[in-house]
Amino acid sequence: MLEIEVVLSPALLRLTEVRNKNVVVIDILRATSTICTAIHEGASAVRPVKTTEEAIALKNHGYLIAGERDGHKLEGFDLGNSPFECMNGRVTNQKIALTTTNGTKCVQAATDAGASNVIAGSFLNIDATSEWLKKDGKDIVLLCAGWKDKVNLEDTLFAGAMASKILNNNFYTLDCDSTHLAIDVYELGKHNLAQFLIKSSHYQRLSNLHHQEDMEYCLSLNLFETVVGQKNVEMFKIN
Ligand code: MLT
Repeated sequence: MLEIEVVLSPALLRLTEVRNKNVVVIDILRATSTICTAIHEGASAVRPVKTTEEAIALKNHGYLIAGERDGHKLEGFDLGNSPFECMNGRVTNQKIALTTTNGTKCVQAATDAGASNVIAGSFLNIDATSEWLKKDGKDIVLLCAGWKDKVNLEDTLFAGAMASKILNNNFYTLDCDSTHLAIDVYELGKHNLAQFLIKSSHYQRLSNLHHQEDMEYCLSLNLFETVVGQKNVEMFKIN
């Protein structure tokens, strides 16, 4: 049987074997939702980087530079981290270097830990991504970006949603309480994701920054079927 495991925080990744497994990096508000949107909207690639310096250096190589810290767009960057900034042709055929508070560091951590494929997780394409993972037939790790190594509600909720979809066939099993926990959180919140998340810290943080429409969008289900994964150092459409 294949295994699926939820890692609730990057701080717990060191306890998890990811070699030869598919790792779904989850930063619903907003990094991996934005990455999936950018690729769906025709960006030729998104390169997640850890630091602002790495992003700025890539500007000289023809990249749009995008990013935020604590939800605030970085000074002098072309884009922040709102999925809406990747629409209306703004990123079509462009390469984007993206650095965010949590999500892009997680992509790097999964890569450094030897993941087979690093996939961007989002509600926007959750069914297509779940089907791709089941077809690829590897053990799966659902890695929650959280907030500065703390567990957060939105990424855990998504992990429960994806785990429920992966486990609805006979090929996958689970053997970790974090997956049970994530599934139970999803069962509590699945009927109204936004209502369930109003209490979460990042939802409050982004609301104070007037990013309500970003959150509404990032919690929308199956807007597109584009599946996004990393090859070498950049993320592309992989289906
Ligand atoms: C993150 O990396 O945690 C998010 O991208 C933060 C944000 O977009 O506000």
